[in-house]
Amino acid sequence: MKKRIAIFASGSGSNAQKIMEHFKKNADAEVALILTNNPEAYVLQRADNFEIPSHVFDRHEFYETDDVIRLLKNLQVDLIVLAGFLWLVPQSLLKAFPNKIINIHPSLLPKYGGKGMYGDKVHNAILAAKEEESGITIHFVNENFDEGEIIHQSRFRIDEGDDLEMVKFKGQQLEHTHFPKVVEGLLKKMRS
Ligand code: GRF
Repeated sequence: MKKRIAIFASGSGSNAQKIMEHFKKNADAEVALILTNNPEAYVLQRADNFEIPSHVFDRHEFYETDDVIRLLKNLQVDLIVLAGFLWLVPQSLLKAFPNKIINIHPSLLPKYGGKGMYGDKVHNAILAAKEEESGITIHFVNENFDEGEIIHQSRFRIDEGDDLEMVKFKGQQLEHTHFPKVVEGLLKKMRS
């Protein structure tokens, strides 16, 4: 049976898109569901374009019921991928999927991570600190923001004159290249 991936995203979902593209014609794995806390998230349109089902939930459902867990279990999801998902994952979901939830973060963790460090805030902090390099981190998720065992990091140079848009662009290129491959690698390991 194909391995099944669920992706949580709160916004645009460009990483979700790359993962959906990557697994569209894959014999071993598929994206089974897109989940979001944001009914306006563009990721919902992207899911429709790939004819992948989606589910929108609110705070009550996510933190005070087991509905999301039940949905994921019913779909026999093997791996949960957070791709720009802004809410903390509740203990109940972590327990239901131990070592099966991963996240991507646009910095070289543990630098520039933690609560409130998302989107432009990360890159602005990196530029303000005059870092000469930055990168991306893919890691297992635990009960804190941007912690958990690191699975993959890749880096890029910050050149003189690089502005917010350029740093974001460089990071996004790395994310789009590596995230689908890291997901595939993890699924392969789960199979063997
Ligand atoms: C990415 O930069 C990711 O590292 C962070 O949120 C952003 C999501 O971008 N966690 P997108 O919605 O996939 O375009």
